[in-house]
Amino acid sequence: MTSRYDEVYGAWKREPLAFWAEAALDIDWIEPFAQVLDDSRAPFYRWFRGGILNTCHNALDRHVAAGRGGQLALIHDSPVTGSIRRFTYAELTERVAELAGALRALGVGRGDRVLIYMSMVPEAAMAMLAAARLGAIHSVVFGGFAANELATRIDDAKPKLVIATSCGIEPGRVVPYKPLLDRALEIATHQPSHCLILQRPEGPAELRPGRDLDWSETVPGAEPAACMPVAANDPLYILYTSGTTGIPKGVVRDNGGHAVALKWSMENIYGIQPGEVFWAASDVGWVVGHSYIVYAPLLHGATTIMFEGKPVGTPDPGVYWRVIAEHGVKALFTAPTAFRAIKRDDPNAEYLKKYDLGGFRTLFLAGERADPDTIQWAERHLKRPVIDHWWQTETGWPMAANCIGLGQLPVKYGSPTKAVPGYDIRVLDEAGHEMKPGEIGAIAVRLPLPPGSLPTLWNNDEGYVKSYLATFPGYYQTGDAGFIDEDGYVYIMSRTDDIINVAGHRLSTGAMEEVLASHQDVAECAVVGVADELKGQVPLGFVVLKAGVNRPHAEILAELVALVRDRIGPVAAFRKVTVVKRLPKTRSGKVLRATMRRIADAEPYTIPATIDDPAILEEIGAALGAIGHGSGRR
Ligand code: COA
Ligand code: AMP
Repeated sequence: MTSRYDEVYGAWKREPLAFWAEAALDIDWIEPFAQVLDDSRAPFYRWFRGGILNTCHNALDRHVAAGRGGQLALIHDSPVTGSIRRFTYAELTERVAELAGALRALGVGRGDRVLIYMSMVPEAAMAMLAAARLGAIHSVVFGGFAANELATRIDDAKPKLVIATSCGIEPGRVVPYKPLLDRALEIATHQPSHCLILQRPEGPAELRPGRDLDWSETVPGAEPAACMPVAANDPLYILYTSGTTGIPKGVVRDNGGHAVALKWSMENIYGIQPGEVFWAASDVGWVVGHSYIVYAPLLHGATTIMFEGKPVGTPDPGVYWRVIAEHGVKALFTAPTAFRAIKRDDPNAEYLKKYDLGGFRTLFLAGERADPDTIQWAERHLKRPVIDHWWQTETGWPMAANCIGLGQLPVKYGSPTKAVPGYDIRVLDEAGHEMKPGEIGAIAVRLPLPPGSLPTLWNNDEGYVKSYLATFPGYYQTGDAGFIDEDGYVYIMSRTDDIINVAGHRLSTGAMEEVLASHQDVAECAVVGVADELKGQVPLGFVVLKAGVNRPHAEILAELVALVRDRIGPVAAFRKVTVVKRLPKTRSGKVLRATMRRIADAEPYTIPATIDDPAILEEIGAALGAIGHGSGRR
């Protein structure tokens, strides 16, 4: 099939408003929008101003009304508990309406925030949809984050209600969530009126009378709530993501643009038809989970898979193939790290031979750089297109992709292909001038961003402008660096800030530095992301101890590892840290993190002309050699 990509991208470029007005026809509006794009407060753009809709109606009730009630909406496949649960559109609608009724009885209404801290159970998706049904704003916090991170989000979002599971289940261990929530509420200034707790049999929690409510006593039998009409520009959710400091950014998603863009993406980017099965192997705590486990497949009338397990070890590296075969998955979306894990444990893909993947069409990878080795391994064994695509929490849906639904373009390894219709991607130099094809610079998107992308940060318009719009007026700064080639293929090379990607999870090295610096014995520190075969990147810390500290280094280092785990969470995967006498700095005092990373990764580096004392680099090399990094690697 020849690709329609050029034609569709061209149509969007010529008449963007007509393009999005047409896409909006696929959504049920209670009141039509008065204006496709309101640019009167630029750079704060608003899509579909005046439109009234309900996202939950579009994701559930609408399909039941259209005759899809008996079709599966959600399949929960949980190898860690050995269970599979299935919900039709009719059942899911009923469960969500009942839960929304219970939330309403607890005082939750339009505009109120509901914080969700849950493991990968169907009730997590129900909680999101129930909040949306009431016009409330949900904020899901990933379970791998520690109490401190949860507290920061509680204080920023000020939720009326917290919904949590008693525990999460990681391979071989139960992670009690409720004590983390209790601890977070001790730290936080803001207190919700209630915590609704879903008790999981693997690890029930103690409830605090008055504040905590047991889901099983509160939700069943609640009077079902109808969908509340909301404005297109009312927030649907807040999702916190790592910024350059310890304070996370509350990315806001509004209702109208999100519904339109996500619905459009399912068919045009992912090539999925209503009624087909789509699987995003991620977690509801991340943007991939929000967009492609919960909202997009349901807005599209597809069946979504919610998987509670890992690509390997639950029980073996064949579990992805088992899920695809057992549930008839047409397309899988995951992070490259998952495939690196499978490749590591089953290099010849022996497990694949046990399953019939006849109906499977496409593998999509995103969240971190997809290394050509991994892509080619997947292609060789799956014999299907493997599509790298690029996006971020902020945009909510892909910025660059090989849009399978429009007909596949030739693959260039190392590139997530071309800009998706809606995104005008440019590469800029430091002064904001456009660079020539092949030249590396900052990747930016010309404003306005398309529907579905963040309209602002929660309660922080100023932070939104400062973080994303101020550097290059008229553009959104993605924080990624790379280039575009002669054919318009985009290449993502690195971040321009201190964000790293650990197993597809976005983390801030700045936040880790803040934690290390808070240790009594640490005078100075730096954290960089170094290459890791499985996780893509892992953090590596350097600490300079205060004068006079003479405790054994091993003891201090173990405390530092525990401190990051305790303050940020196990997801940070912070295990490597070393003591150095000094940090390499420029004469103006800037820590040379990039040089340290290069030494750690045994990459060639030039000694920066501005360095205050080049001898430090040798010391750094020696310290790294002692922990198995850099040219001194042992
Ligand atoms: N609740 C509590 N703890 C969690 C958690 C959760 N929801 N998710 C992860 N953790 C913990 C893990 O148990 C692990 O703890 P440990 O240090 O005690 O072992 C730590 O956080 C790191 O987890 P993870 O990143 O999952 O690493 P892993 O070593 O357990 O597994 C992979 C490695 C590659 C198998 C795993 O990262 C993976 O499945 N990645 C798939 C990609 C993905 O989902 N990306 C999301 C964005 S699309
Ligand atoms: P997150 O907000 O967690 O989705 O992380 C977004 C960041 O992950 C991007 O800004 C990139 O740095 C990185 N990223 C996501 N997808 C890709 C990709 N396909 N190739 C390279 N980097 C990617």
